[in-house]
Amino acid sequence: MTSIAVVGSQWGDEGKGKITDFLGTTADLSVRANGGNNAGHTIDFDGKEFKMRLIPSGIFAAKLGAVIGNGVVINPEVLLGELDNLEKSGIDTSNLKISNRAHVIMPYHVMQDTYEEEAKGSLKVGTTKNGIGPTYMDKASRIGIRVCDLIDPETFAEKLRFNLESKNALFTKVYGKPAMDFDEIYNKYVEYGKRIAKYVCDTSLYVNDALDKDEKVLFEGAQGIMLDIDQGTYPFVSSSNSVSGGIASGSGIGANRIKTVLGICKAYTTRVGAGPFPTELHDETGDKIRDIAHEYGTVTGRPRRVGWFDSVALRHAKRVAGINALSLNLLDVFSGFDKIKICVAYDLNGEQIDYYPANLKEVEACQPVYEELPAWEEDITGAKSWEDLPEKAQAFVKRISEITGIPVVTVSVGPDREQTIVLQDPWTL
Ligand code: IMP
Repeated sequence: MTSIAVVGSQWGDEGKGKITDFLGTTADLSVRANGGNNAGHTIDFDGKEFKMRLIPSGIFAAKLGAVIGNGVVINPEVLLGELDNLEKSGIDTSNLKISNRAHVIMPYHVMQDTYEEEAKGSLKVGTTKNGIGPTYMDKASRIGIRVCDLIDPETFAEKLRFNLESKNALFTKVYGKPAMDFDEIYNKYVEYGKRIAKYVCDTSLYVNDALDKDEKVLFEGAQGIMLDIDQGTYPFVSSSNSVSGGIASGSGIGANRIKTVLGICKAYTTRVGAGPFPTELHDETGDKIRDIAHEYGTVTGRPRRVGWFDSVALRHAKRVAGINALSLNLLDVFSGFDKIKICVAYDLNGEQIDYYPANLKEVEACQPVYEELPAWEEDITGAKSWEDLPEKAQAFVKRISEITGIPVVTVSVGPDREQTIVLQDPWTL
C-alpha cells in the first residue's frame, strides 16, 4: 500500500497546492476528501496556470485520474466552471470521478452563510461565504441533498421543495431577506445534474481498489488542522474534519490505509478570518513577511494575518492528525532578516504549557515563549540541495524538526516546482 495524505498543519494556506502538484506528478490517483470551494490553489501545467478549488491535481497527469470523495461539499456551478476551463485548454477530464454520496452546496446555503455571518456581528467567523458551513449543517441534520439525489430529478424535486420551505421561512422571518424561487433553482440544478452524471460513482470502491492494487494514492487535504471542526480553534474553524481521520471517512477508506501523513507548514504562521492567534505579529516584521510572501487569500483576496512559527500548535496538529513527515515551505522569506523567532511553549498565567487550550479565553491569555535563531543574508531561492543552504538556514530547519519531533522531508525555497529541496522522497517513507 502506497498512500500519502497531505494535510495543512497550521490554519490553511501552507502551500499544500505546491506539494500536491509536486507529488501529483508521480501519483497514480489523487483524491479530495473534505471541504469545498473554500479551498483553492493554482497549478501550473504545460505552461498554463489553472486555479483549482475542487478538482484534485490528478486530473492533469495521474494514471487513474482524480476523485472528489464523499466528504467534500460540491458547488456544481463551480465544479462545471472548472471542468469547462480545463476542457477549453484541451485537458481530458474523463478520468474525474465524483462520489454519489458527496453533498451539494445549494444557492440557499451560500445565502444562509452570508446572512448568518451578518447576524453574528462581532462573533462572526469570517467565513469564505461559499455556503460550506450550512451545507455541512444540513448534512448533519439529515436533510442534505447528495449528488445521487441531484442526478435523480424526482428525488431532487422532493428534497429541494422540503428544504426551500424551511430556508425561505428562515430568510424572510428571521433575517428579513427575500425568499428564493423553487423553479429557478430546480431548472438550473437539474441541468447541472445532467452534466455531472457521467462522472458520478461509488468512489470508495474505486479508491480502495487502487489501494488494493498498490497504486500510489495521494489524498489532498483541504484547509488546515487548526481549522478542523473538532480539533481546531472552534468556533473559528471550517465545518469539516481536516485531520487524517477526516480524510479516511471523507474518501471511504479505513484509517489504517493512509501510510504517510505529510504535514505542510510554513516557516512562519498565517491565518485568515477571525480567532485567537498567539504568535500574531502586529508590527512591521509582520508587514514585511506579508509583503515578501504575498500573503493574500487565493479565494477571497483578504490580507492574511501573519505570525511567528508556533510549535505548540504544530505539536497539537501532529498529535491529532498523526503527522509523521513535514514539508517546510517558504524558507526563502527569511533571507536578509536579522533574527527569526520560534514559539516553543505558551505562558498561561505564569505557567508554561505545551498544549493548545480548548477555551479561547485561555488561548487569548497565552503569551508565546520564544526561542531566537539568527537568520541568513544569502538569497536561497536558487538552492537545489541541502548543501546549497547556508548553515543558519540548515540550523533553522533542523530546529523545526527537533522541536516538533517530525522529520522534515522537503524544504521549499520558492513557488516553482523546481524550487523544492527533497531530503527524503515522501513516497518511500
Ligand atoms: P468557511 O470554511 O468558508 O466556513 O470559513 C471558516 C473559516 O475557515 C474562515 O476563517 C476561513 O477563512 C477559513 N478557511 C476556510 N478554508 C480555508 C482555506 O482553504 N485556507 C485558509 N483558511 C480557510
